[in-house]
Amino acid sequence: MSDTRAPQHAASDRLWERAQRYLPGGVTANARIHRSTGRPFLAERAAGGRVWDVDGREFIDLNMSFGASMLGHGHPAVREAVIRATELGIMCGYETEHQTRLAERIAEVIPSAELVRFAGSGTETTWHALRTAKVATGRSRVVKFEGHFHGYNDSLGYSFWPTLDQAGPAAAPNTVPESEGMPPAGIADTIVLPWNDAAALEAVFAAHGPEIAAVIMEPVNIDSGTILPLPGYLEAAREITSRHGSVLIFDEILSGFRTGIGGAQGLYGVTPDMTTLGKTLGGGTALSAFVGSRDVMSAVAPLGKAIHSGTYNAHLIPIMAGLAFLDVATDPGFYPALEAMQATFYPALQAAFDRAGLPVLVHAKGMRFTLLFGMDRAPVRYRDILAHDTDTATRFYGLALEEGVYFHAAWHHGFSAMHTTADLDEALVKIERAARRLAAARPGAAL
Ligand SMILES: Cc1ncc(COP(=O)(O)O)c(C=O)c1O
Repeated sequence: MSDTRAPQHAASDRLWERAQRYLPGGVTANARIHRSTGRPFLAERAAGGRVWDVDGREFIDLNMSFGASMLGHGHPAVREAVIRATELGIMCGYETEHQTRLAERIAEVIPSAELVRFAGSGTETTWHALRTAKVATGRSRVVKFEGHFHGYNDSLGYSFWPTLDQAGPAAAPNTVPESEGMPPAGIADTIVLPWNDAAALEAVFAAHGPEIAAVIMEPVNIDSGTILPLPGYLEAAREITSRHGSVLIFDEILSGFRTGIGGAQGLYGVTPDMTTLGKTLGGGTALSAFVGSRDVMSAVAPLGKAIHSGTYNAHLIPIMAGLAFLDVATDPGFYPALEAMQATFYPALQAAFDRAGLPVLVHAKGMRFTLLFGMDRAPVRYRDILAHDTDTATRFYGLALEEGVYFHAAWHHGFSAMHTTADLDEALVKIERAARRLAAARPGAAL
């Protein structure tokens, strides 16, 4: 644990005490508790690739709102778009030209998008995507994969990060609810499989094919250590689901826009029936979408019987911000510049851990990366990451905070389009210092 009693933490201490009086657990989302400090990171403001806490301390941000702020904090194009929305009257509950324009832009860049519906969060959009798939197929069951995260809704809130005890047999995992209070019927409707195993998918369709409405997956499993699809796996999933008349959903809330404008589906050349988008789509504002083929999306009301409605649907502020995001991200120089930063930063980060003598594998895909503590091989399936040394990781993230780098203690991290080379060079020095402090404190370290 970091030293939270130091005088330089006085404002954080006061706010943390106040927050606990009025917010359950002192936070507005469970995941905001930082495992290393046992409290949230209490921010005052952020700009570009940096964030300041309420005590005025400055940090290089390598969390970037869990990936939502890939453009950078307060990107000028997004700020301008938000101002434009305020000038138009902060309209909500109206259809305007801007929603249509954003849907057109998404359909231009996302291979699976013919029709688009907007929502606010990832949790909301995966839930609606699944409902749509159920109505489109007239079936009720879903296949999801161990270690794949789709938000905390009651339809998909299973087996994100089960312990080995909970998880059951590797070939036929248990369906493990991620929260108390979920409807018991959900367990029967949710089939959990190991990912990257085409034979397991084939077998479940042989047994239950006519009941399976959808197969949902993260096409790059960023939420469990950035596990990449094995060659041919996405193609096999595409073929099996098509053959059985089931809807293939790629949850690209994290993988979308990380490796290029077309997401993982563009990168790997496999087009699902439906896709969920979120995080960076709104340039850091609350915007998500479920999109898909005209055929499947025609199940959405008023064309079909899957209800999707809401006062705040496609609120003008995130819609304008989403248009700004796509304008920036479709600039021909955008992804090449990010790729150049990735090509320098990731090897330098690996070298910093190696020099410090701390066993960490830096494992990245595009704009998100994972730090695998105590592992020397990239994971292929969820259970591989159970070898990760969580205690050492937790201590490292606490020391990094002390050195001035904000990582959340999570499975993925990232920089933004507004991080400068100087930001990343400074982060490397500070990270190496934190790693050296930790390596020196480890049992058996040379004195
Ligand atoms: C792949 C994936 N799906 C869904 C979600 C849920 O999104 P939200 O946090 O906006 O509800 C996340 C969030 O991290 C995610 O990574």
